[in-house]
Amino acid sequence: MKKINIAIDGPAGAGKSSIAREVASQLGFVYVDTGALYRAIALFSTEYPTKKDFLKHLENDCHLELKYFGGTQCIFLNGENVTESIRTPEVSMKASEVSALPEVREFLLETQKDIAREYNVIMDGRDIGTVVLPDADLKIYLTASAEERASRRYLEMEDKPDKPTYDQILEDIKQRDYNDMHRAVSPLRQADDAVLIDSTTMGFHEVCEEIMDLIEQRL
Ligand code: C5P
Repeated sequence: MKKINIAIDGPAGAGKSSIAREVASQLGFVYVDTGALYRAIALFSTEYPTKKDFLKHLENDCHLELKYFGGTQCIFLNGENVTESIRTPEVSMKASEVSALPEVREFLLETQKDIAREYNVIMDGRDIGTVVLPDADLKIYLTASAEERASRRYLEMEDKPDKPTYDQILEDIKQRDYNDMHRAVSPLRQADDAVLIDSTTMGFHEVCEEIMDLIEQRL
């Protein structure tokens, strides 16, 4: 039976992951955080001194596995659970760099499509509606102002010992937006048939409700 696929794209810090996770849990769908795949590859790349070396080893020596524990996605790189260690600002920036490489995008494309063929999914990323799942049943482009996204990130990190300043977070977000929107392959952009949700002045539950309403109308 054909599976239901919902794509959520948008810039860093727009709330895609937490919203997609909540909506997926309400629907009993699998939530797929594709950013984790790029982050794990970014971590893998740090083992190699040059880009050439890294790309030479990507195909045969980088084994990624997504596992789900009660709806929570965990990612394993060569058998090691790296779910937590990929969440540093350094890995975020590195992920933005490696994700611009066509070899990396090609390497991950089938993995993402396979999951969507097998399960009902809500998949979040940057090119899900445009490249990975062009026939998705519903596409959402979720965004918010860079300042609002930075202040949400800043609050999330409140208890972290080495938390960056608000200005550093804002700078990182703007840099990643620029990288993601200006790369030659699969740049971040709103698909022509995606519904735009600007959550700058919206709360978490309001966005979830709007998405649930769209799903009810479409499916
Ligand atoms: O979503 P997250 O911030 O974890 O993604 C990390 C980086 O991975 C993004 O800044 C982006 O460069 C890249 N990415 C991508 N395509 C996706 C998901 C993430 O290029 N589908």
